[in-house]
Amino acid sequence: MIKILFVCLGNICRSPMAQFIFKDLVDKKGLSNKFYIDSSATSDENTYCKTGIYYGTKEILDKEGIPYFEHFAKQMTMDDYNNFDYIIGMEEKNIIDILEIVGNDPKHKVFRLLDFNENPRDIIDPWYSRNFALTFSDIKL
Ligand code: 4NP
Repeated sequence: MIKILFVCLGNICRSPMAQFIFKDLVDKKGLSNKFYIDSSATSDENTYCKTGIYYGTKEILDKEGIPYFEHFAKQMTMDDYNNFDYIIGMEEKNIIDILEIVGNDPKHKVFRLLDFNENPRDIIDPWYSRNFALTFSDIKL
């Protein structure tokens, strides 16, 4: 079982979008029983009230036909670092914040999503850009 945790600042826009896009890929390939996929936040801002997935993310997932279930924001912990195989942040600042939570990364589990891409870059936060379609197409890369 490969365990992947997607992480962003608030865990209501980008990381749940990545979680369900990846889950859909895995499901369509018939590999669901080989992966455990979840998402979490670096901040505890939205975890105070267990905020659900932001409507902008739900709208684009609906539009693109990606199934999802409700997910409530939660902050990443040291236990997550120990339990997951890959911890994937959306932007450089997420990586800095993840390392602040876990101290350092001796097992080399922490990556930025688009460092796997030929054009490495941050995934811009749609909470501020309001461009959820761009977030979707960047994550889908
Ligand atoms: P996310 O976006 O990190 O992609 O989930 C944000 C969501 C909420 C906030 C910031 C970013 N916020 O400040 O509440």
